[in-house]
Amino acid sequence: MDNTEEFVAPDVTMRKNAGLTHAADYTMRQPLERYTEEDHATWAKLYARQLALLPGRACDEFMDGIQQLEVDPLRIPDFTQLNQHLMQATGWQLVAVHGLIPGDIFFEHLANRRFPVTWWIREPQNLDYLQEPDIFHDLFGHVPLLMNPVFADYVQAYGKGGVKAQALGSLDMLARLYWFTVEFGLINTPAGLRIYGAGILSSGSESMYALESDSPNRLGFDLLRIMKTRYRYDSFQKTYFVIDNFEQLFKATEPDFTPYYEEIANKDEIPAGDVLDGDLVIHRGTGEGWALTEDA
Ligand code: PHE
Ligand code: CO
Repeated sequence: MDNTEEFVAPDVTMRKNAGLTHAADYTMRQPLERYTEEDHATWAKLYARQLALLPGRACDEFMDGIQQLEVDPLRIPDFTQLNQHLMQATGWQLVAVHGLIPGDIFFEHLANRRFPVTWWIREPQNLDYLQEPDIFHDLFGHVPLLMNPVFADYVQAYGKGGVKAQALGSLDMLARLYWFTVEFGLINTPAGLRIYGAGILSSGSESMYALESDSPNRLGFDLLRIMKTRYRYDSFQKTYFVIDNFEQLFKATEPDFTPYYEEIANKDEIPAGDVLDGDLVIHRGTGEGWALTEDA
């Protein structure tokens, strides 16, 4: 979701959405009647796997959110039911979409406290890895933290920032912030490092890798550095950034970014696995296994 180019839907998105339409803002009714028993079984399997892994790995705010949302462990949730809990907690709403939507539309939804959720679920042959987001990633990964007031405000502010960054031509920089926080963020707690990024929380193998592997770097949150850091979208991350709490994230991103964009626009991009002088190093990655993947 980092550009406004016309989206070319991948095959699975096309197949799942055959015969369905969406409104001008890309929202649609959640087509509950399309879920098969196999779909519900996929949800149950993924949910059970993550719930076995996440206690002690996911941050408390996520675990609390899952519980307060009363997410069904066995069947794909009906958005209207989740929306009652969400509305009451933070005023957010889920809206169903067919898949990835154009960036400007996505930002507009976030800015209005609507979170777009892909309605369909991955197929059993792709249980572990899927390039495009599905309902398990979008809903299980992202929505529980929207029950947290500070995080909920952060995501809305990001949406507003997206509209602005687009006008300034700085979207590549802002998109990296989303990636390294909302999708792949780690958080420091008195009990140890925990996960809050949805891309990690919705992935069994990355939930373990992000916290326990010696391979990736784990560096302290640094806004301007993050906005120049390249990332992997086709493999596990080489670097994770660690916040101390959600207030820190909200405060650091509260100022007007216009001068920030100007300051860093001409700086070199930082390769995904680099550690720089001045980085707050929580763990220096061994880089083991990276030789197999080309540098991002
Ligand atoms: N404060 C940022 C701006 O003025 C917007 C923003 C908020 C960006 C939160 C990211 C996260 O551009
Ligand atoms: Co996501």
